[in-house]
Order: sequence, then C-alpha cells, then structure tokens
Amino acid sequence: MELQQLVDRIASEVTPGGAVADYIPALARVDPHAFGLAVATLDGEVFGAGRHERPFSIQSISKVFTLALALAENDDVWTRVGREPSGSPFNSLVQLETEQGIPRNPFINAGAVVVTDHLGLGASDRLLEFLRRESGNPGIGVDPEVAESELDHSDRNRALAHFMASYGNMRNPVDVVLREYVRQCSIAMSCTDLAKATLFLARHGVRNDGTRLLGVSAAKRVNAVMLTCGTYDAAGQFAYRVGLPGKSGVGGGIIAVVPGRCAICVWSPALDARGNSVAGVDALDRFTTLTGWSVF
Ligand code: DON
Repeated sequence: MELQQLVDRIASEVTPGGAVADYIPALARVDPHAFGLAVATLDGEVFGAGRHERPFSIQSISKVFTLALALAENDDVWTRVGREPSGSPFNSLVQLETEQGIPRNPFINAGAVVVTDHLGLGASDRLLEFLRRESGNPGIGVDPEVAESELDHSDRNRALAHFMASYGNMRNPVDVVLREYVRQCSIAMSCTDLAKATLFLARHGVRNDGTRLLGVSAAKRVNAVMLTCGTYDAAGQFAYRVGLPGKSGVGGGIIAVVPGRCAICVWSPALDARGNSVAGVDALDRFTTLTGWSVF
C-alpha cells in the first residue's frame, strides 16, 4: 500500500478517546477530537493526513531533542541521569529520595530538567534553532499562553528541581532552569514539522542537511531510551503494541522512529491515565501492523 493511502486510511479509522491534560490550564482548551498524522521518509518526503499541519504544544516530546543536543556535546550527562524505565508517572518524586537525586531517565520530568540544566542558559533557544532547521519551518516558536500557564502551575517541577539541587544535581539556579524547561515544553509544532525534525534518529544521527548531529551509537542509544522510557509507566504496553521507539507529550503528540526508513508524528489531544494520546497510540499500532515496520 502507498504511504499516502495508508495514512489516510489510519486517519479515517481511529477514534479519539480519553481526556485532555488539564493540569496546565492552557492545554485544556484544545479540541479533544482533533487528529493529525505525518510520516516523513529519509529523502524528506512527507505523507500527511487529518490536521497534520496544525501546530500543537510539543510538551515532553521536546525531551528527545534536548537529550540529543546534550549528547552531541559529550556524554557527561549520563553521570547525572540514568537510563532505566521508572515504572512511575512522568512527574513522580518518589525515586529521587532513595536514588540520591539522580533521576531514572531523561524522559521523566526530573530527568528532563537535569538535561536542560546540563545544556544551561539559552537551552530553549538552541532547541528552537535546531527544530527550525530540521523542519525547514522558521516560524516555529514558543506558545506564550501555554508557557505562562505552565509557569504558573509548576510547583511540582519546581519541587523536583529543588530536591535534585539538595543532592547537588543542579548547576544553575532552579528558577533559570525551570524557565528554560517550560519554554522548551511550550514550543508549538505540527505533525509535519515534528516528523521532519525526528528524521535524524531514523538516519542514525545524520541531519537533514547531511551533517552529523550524533554518532551511530549515540543515535541508537537515544532510540533505545525512547523505546524503554518514552511513554513512562506505559512503555511496556507501547513497545508491545507499536514496537518502535516513541516519545509522547501531554499536548497529545507522539513521535516514533523506524530506523533506516522514516519518522512519524501523530497528534490527538485526548489522553489515557498515563498521559499518552489514546488515538495516537492506536494510530501507531495500526501503522506498524499494516506496514510490518517495527524494530522487532
Ligand atoms: O513538565 C510537564 O509536566 C509538562 N511540561 C510535560 C509533561 C509531559 O508532556 C508528559 N508526557 N506525556
């Protein structure tokens, strides 16, 4: 089946269900039934269906790109954050106390805050620059309403950051890091933008302009951590259903990587209890079942 027919078929078959995230009030205002899907192939061709050009809040999907940017500099970041699945909700504090302020992995909130701290001041601007280049869309920016709403409701992330600071695992002031972290989560992008920006992970570390961001091993590692930790306490279920490295965000987006073939982004804001898009996981499940493309 042609990819365009395939994405059209998936878009017509999935049914959005669940509830939109409301702990960041500005996110609660999106249409829960919206759906978009884009598949970008290694040569840069994009096959889209539904509202694939509509920007949405990327939220935790940003954590993949900040990890990649940190690893592009060196792999020191692994002294400050682990790479084991947490089995806990994305915003959990509990493991930090028994594990000396070292978060389990870079995709739970605590781990992502450490990665942002590692990148330091200007992290969100560097991320924006990278995302604009890879997607070819210079219009990508931070949604100021989401950023303000998230900053106003950041007690838990602030608590995580202070807790890690008490163990010496913060280099910059918590306020500075939180501002960068909130900005990165509040970036708005479409499925098309995100599928293109994810292609370097399908291309074993090579960017869309042919230069290399990551070595082959580092790209493999980012994909491996996405597979095991990218959907939090549902990572086992996601691997079982989809069989691809994937990363979700509470804005309803999910990116997924088929190494050597393509990058996918699906968006539908209604979430399950673990913060993953219901129709998004369903669409990816259908995609890998219909194409037979998975890492297994
Ligand atoms: O820090 C937060 O809670 C949000 N900015 C991001 C959380 C998120 O997207 C979790 N993903 N499913």
